[in-house]
Amino acid sequence: MGNIFLIGFMGVGKTSVAEQLSRMTGRKNVDMDQMIAEQQKLSIPEIFAQYGEEYFRKLETNLLKELPLVDQGIISCGGGVVMKEHNVSEMKKKGTVILLTATPDTIYQRLKADEGRPLLKGRNHIEGISELMEVRRERYEAAADVVIATDYKAVEEICKEIINKI
Ligand code: S3P
Repeated sequence: MGNIFLIGFMGVGKTSVAEQLSRMTGRKNVDMDQMIAEQQKLSIPEIFAQYGEEYFRKLETNLLKELPLVDQGIISCGGGVVMKEHNVSEMKKKGTVILLTATPDTIYQRLKADEGRPLLKGRNHIEGISELMEVRRERYEAAADVVIATDYKAVEEICKEIINKI
C-alpha cells in the first residue's frame, strides 16, 4: 500500500508517532524536517532566517518528489506541506495520508517552550495557534485519508489506532 504520510499542525506529534510506528511496524522512518536540515547543513530556523519560507517550501516539494513511489516508509511531514496543492497530489500518489489533530490548547502546552518553529514566533499562544490552524484546517482535512485526534493519548495508543485504520 505504499508509504504512510503523517500530516498535521506543528506539535500534533508527527515525529514521535512516526518513530514509534516505525518500531511497531518495521517500516523505515523518514522525517522531512530532519532530512532537509541534513541536506542543507542548516537547522530549520536557520533556513527560514537565511532564505525565507518559500525557499523552504521548495525544498519540501523537492524532497517529496524524490521519495520512491512504492516504498513502505513512514514519512513525517512538516506542518506546512499541505499548503501546496502539488505536495498533496504527490503524497496521494505515493501512499496513504494520515492527519493527526490536537486542539490549540494541547498544542500550546506541548510547544510553549519550543524555539525551533519559526512560524510560531510571535504567535506562540493559544489564539495565535488557533488562528494559523483555522487558516490551514481546510487543507489538512482535504488531504487526509484518515483523521486521528491525539489529545490526551499516548504515542503508542495513537500508533495502534493508525495500524487498525490502514
Ligand atoms: C512548519 C512546521 C515545522 C517545520 C517548519 C514549518 C509549518 O514542522 O516544517 O518550521 O509550516 O507548520 P513540524 O510540523 O514538525 O513542527
